[in-house]
Amino acid sequence: MARYEICGGNPLQGSVTISGAKNAAVAILPAALLVKGKCRVENVPDISDVRILLDILADLGADIRYEAPGVVLLDCTNIVSTHPNPELVRKMRASYYLMGALLGRFHKANVALPGGCNFASRPIDQHIKGFAALGADVDENEDYVNLTPGPGGLQGNRISLDVVSVGATVNIMLAAVLLPGQTVIENAAKEPHIVDLANFLNTMGAHISGAGTDTVKIRGVESLQGGTYGIIPDQIEAGTYLAAVAAAGGNVLVRNVIPKHMECITSKLEEMGAKFINYDDAIRVQSDGRLQHTTVKTRPYPGFPTDMQAQICVCMALAEGISRLTESVYETRFFGYCTELASMGADILINGKTAIVTGQKQLKGATVRAHDLRAGAALVIAGLVAEGTTRVENIHFIERGYERLVEKLTALGADIRRIED
Ligand code: UD1
Repeated sequence: MARYEICGGNPLQGSVTISGAKNAAVAILPAALLVKGKCRVENVPDISDVRILLDILADLGADIRYEAPGVVLLDCTNIVSTHPNPELVRKMRASYYLMGALLGRFHKANVALPGGCNFASRPIDQHIKGFAALGADVDENEDYVNLTPGPGGLQGNRISLDVVSVGATVNIMLAAVLLPGQTVIENAAKEPHIVDLANFLNTMGAHISGAGTDTVKIRGVESLQGGTYGIIPDQIEAGTYLAAVAAAGGNVLVRNVIPKHMECITSKLEEMGAKFINYDDAIRVQSDGRLQHTTVKTRPYPGFPTDMQAQICVCMALAEGISRLTESVYETRFFGYCTELASMGADILINGKTAIVTGQKQLKGATVRAHDLRAGAALVIAGLVAEGTTRVENIHFIERGYERLVEKLTALGADIRRIED
């Protein structure tokens, strides 16, 4: 078991380069299953979720090589299996994209139910509804989803999602790209990684329009061919560094970002007192560490992301006054970190979907446990600010989604070490 040890109190200075987006990578790499030919994917983050996914694809028969750090060559032409290794599938959440990709390519799939961060009940009924609307027979039990062609075969259809779901939108796009006819997804998610997936698939020859709006249209094509594509920067990794500087104080240039994707986060941190300068592909953040209270409600994009809830909660825990943080996507997400923050001196009262956070002058170091990826990132930020030493345990959750976190923070002047027991 490894842990981080952080001696808090250093302001953050210098520059940090953001990696490729985790949530785009975990959709785009399975999408390569739909392509007969070589896909060259750039800006692939070196994080454990990506490593597991590449292992799953290699195990299915994909030819995978690293051309350079962050540049992956994938050729899924010769894959024949539609049954990915269940032990690997259960190690991560986004392995459910194998269902849509295998269904799209082979018209059948037998995929174990995913594992990953369990900060809430995470149903996949909307994914299943989509597969069924495309003509699949769905046999689901508590361990597996088995998809086979229904009596009429598979074809495009109109699907209106009952809830705005990133995962269902992605899975339906993957399943529909190679089907005859047109598929229309209504009430689709609009996250930047939906647009990135559409751009990847269109680069390989798909006909997808409307990604980034609530209506995505997919006109089926007969085949996709290989090509080169670069993954967008990670909005949440960037947001985590912005929140860290806001809380710890300092002056940092955050490179390789799309400033438009960051507005939902920077607007709130600005309200709290941090200052931002936007460049074409970078943002400078400055803070003296003295923050003001605010009100935040998480929402699907372009709202404030639920994946930044825990990080902004740390800023609120240190801000002057009483802040209100309302979670509207995953209601039980507070439980992953609020008790841990309380052990560091934070004052957080959870009332249903809302956390009422009374800012404190200082947090103090403690031994805390990450319960999921973003909760873990928040504990690291708290450790950077706290007086004394913070030990963050269970860091495998954090390493699912943050590339070279210790190296990047150390370069900014933080005192953080990874200790392997
Ligand atoms: C994705 C992100 C995750 C982020 C989340 C919300 C990836 C790999 N993960 O997760 O980091 O926290 O979006 O922005 O991109 N829902 C249903 N039925 C379904 C699917 C979802 O009821 O079939 C509900 C969920 O319980 C949740 C809401 O819809 O309340 C949004 O979930 P969804 O967007 O699907 O999240 P994920 O795709 O799992």
